[in-house]
Amino acid sequence: MALTKEQVLTSLAGVAAPDGTPLPRTGTLSEVVANDGKVFFSITVDATEVQAWESVRKRAEEAVRALPGVKSALVALTAERKAGTASPRSPQGAAPQAPRGGPRGEAMQGVPGVEAIIAVASGKGGVGKSTTAVNLALGLSALGLKTGILDADIYGPSLPKLLAIKEKPQTIGGTRLKPITRYGLTVMSIGFLIDEETPMIWRGPMVISALTQMLREVEWGALDVMVVDMPPGTGDAQLTMAQQVPLKGAVIVSTPQDLALIDARRGIAMFKRVNVPVLGIVENMSYFQCPQCGTRSDIFGHGGARHEAERLGVPFLGEVPLHMTIREKSDAGLPVVASEPDGVHAQAYRAIAAKVRDQLKGAAGRPAPRIVIEA
Ligand SMILES: Nc1ncnc2c1ncn2[C@@H]1O[C@H](COP(=O)(O)OP(=O)(O)OP(=O)(O)O)[C@@H](O)[C@H]1O
Ligand SMILES: [Mg+2]
Repeated sequence: MALTKEQVLTSLAGVAAPDGTPLPRTGTLSEVVANDGKVFFSITVDATEVQAWESVRKRAEEAVRALPGVKSALVALTAERKAGTASPRSPQGAAPQAPRGGPRGEAMQGVPGVEAIIAVASGKGGVGKSTTAVNLALGLSALGLKTGILDADIYGPSLPKLLAIKEKPQTIGGTRLKPITRYGLTVMSIGFLIDEETPMIWRGPMVISALTQMLREVEWGALDVMVVDMPPGTGDAQLTMAQQVPLKGAVIVSTPQDLALIDARRGIAMFKRVNVPVLGIVENMSYFQCPQCGTRSDIFGHGGARHEAERLGVPFLGEVPLHMTIREKSDAGLPVVASEPDGVHAQAYRAIAAKVRDQLKGAAGRPAPRIVIEA
């Protein structure tokens, strides 16, 4: 018989809050998502009480895991500050304010063993972030860097599909997750834990907590670089994510047309607000090359991103054409850098990866570039 929310709640009745109240009666629980043996929910408490609640979160996870039929359980502890108190994160709906507090990185805890974390982002959806993130990660790996990739697109995770990963991550010692290895990359995605069909009514804080857990409760091991595939947009959730992940830099993906560039500019502005250096812009779907006749057409107006990068004073990392092979291979879980390493597309991605690596070398300790933003 399928696992129900009621069974989950009944098991949680045996878990006591710090004041002894049974957890389901504390009013801190989000909606419980229970689907195909995978359970997810969050506990939201005041920021001043987080430490006292961490053991409650752990016990809640253990209680749910002990239920018959549960394959995985993810319980997120999220903190909310009462109105009027200073917060590292903005309350929902309000414009987020100052970044990370103090000089960059001061309050940010890195992920042990991970040398550099970089985000692949864009203001606009569907411009090819995930495709770029995967091929960039493979390009960095081909350059000899031990590389991981984290799918932070909690609204629409892509890595299970782009890397054809069907297996679920194993747990280590019941609490930590072992990432999946594919094409030499260390991979983690929220999509491994929650089904594609699961309606994800994620509240902002839940998203952040899930992300924090994927950073901190996954055995990433020693990595030279971790590539984070960000969700599209520059709203509060994305800004908060950019604040919560200890990023060394961000790669912005844009298509060449004006509308996408306006969004790319917003993306750059977002990273600037949180003092994350922009490592550069990639122009994806830069031009169209007909697979039959080889004729090239600049359907989106080729060169827009290069021009924009120059204008904003950020590096231009390279261009990737709009090509059927890239889409077909991507959608089949065979990213071109792994499946056609000698092809022209793989070369383009490797060249971009080399520039990113060089930018990263320079990014250490460098302040964010001064960027004039009009968006
Ligand atoms: N250079 C390219 N040539 C051809 N197809 C591409 C290229 N880049 C991406 N695509 C295709 O475009 C679609 C969107 O790409 P992708 O999922 O990488 O975008 P995204 O920006 O991550 O989207 P979302 O905002 O939904 O996360 C996919 O079907 C992908 O295969
Ligand atoms: Mg994506």
